[in-house]
Amino acid sequence: MTTPRADSPAAHSARAHSFNAAAAQYAANRPSYPPALFEAIEELSGRPLAGSRVADIGAGTGIATARLRERGADVIAVEPGEGMAAQFRRGLPDVPMIRGNGNALPLADHRLDLLTYAQAWHWTDPARSVPEALRVLRPGGALALWWNTDALDVPWTAEAAARTERRFGLSVSAEKRDVNARVADPSGRLAFTRRTIRWSRRVPLDTHLANLASHSVFLTHGEERSAAFLAEEREHLLAVFPDGIVEETYDVILLLARTPATA
Ligand SMILES: C[S@@+](CC[C@H](N)C(=O)[O-])C[C@H]1O[C@@H](n2cnc3c(N)ncnc32)[C@H](O)[C@@H]1O
Repeated sequence: MTTPRADSPAAHSARAHSFNAAAAQYAANRPSYPPALFEAIEELSGRPLAGSRVADIGAGTGIATARLRERGADVIAVEPGEGMAAQFRRGLPDVPMIRGNGNALPLADHRLDLLTYAQAWHWTDPARSVPEALRVLRPGGALALWWNTDALDVPWTAEAAARTERRFGLSVSAEKRDVNARVADPSGRLAFTRRTIRWSRRVPLDTHLANLASHSVFLTHGEERSAAFLAEEREHLLAVFPDGIVEETYDVILLLARTPATA
């Protein structure tokens, strides 16, 4: 298999579509998001989630959508990928979900209080997704983007990230840590506030490895190459966590921008 250069448009597109083949694995093993994230969204947007009209874009299997709904938001999900959409419908059959993407939202003008992208904004083209966000949000609404990123000050996490980078030329979450207001909206039309929220979860080693394997960098490098790497990771991690329970520590990076109060 020929692998496109890690930073080429072909590689970006292959990675954006890669999740569909691994949707069940994604749903079962990816981390969720902590309550403090949703509290920060409420604080920065100036509005409780309960009763808010929300669209969750790049909803995937519905991990973020489910949390928004639990908090009483009136959520619609938008997801481009067939495999992810099918998994979403299995997991959240009562939540409305439509196929579409952030560059051309299948949503009416100025209806939403909140537009969310959980680990999905980086797959959009901000030259198109920023105007679309401004079109669908009501005046005084908010756009919230967030990513779970590895806490690289935790020694075993930094070592694992360095191993991934050496082998695949790309760190699983370093690229997301670099996301800032300028990267998220090169046009500068949105004034983002940034928050970082630390949290952790303890999971069996198999869950941790399956979580890792559900990242696009592994999904696009061929099964054999990824399997060999993950087998080596198992050995490295058993040396750090001999009881087979891994403590994953994350920094959720949240960027939130409010739209002007008058249209
Ligand atoms: C890492 S997953 C995140 C899924 C979910 N939001 C979550 O928190 O688990 C990224 C999702 O973005 C979707 N995606 C890819 N390109 C997109 C685009 N241009 N606009 C919106 N979503 C996109 C993928 O299909 C995938 O479901």
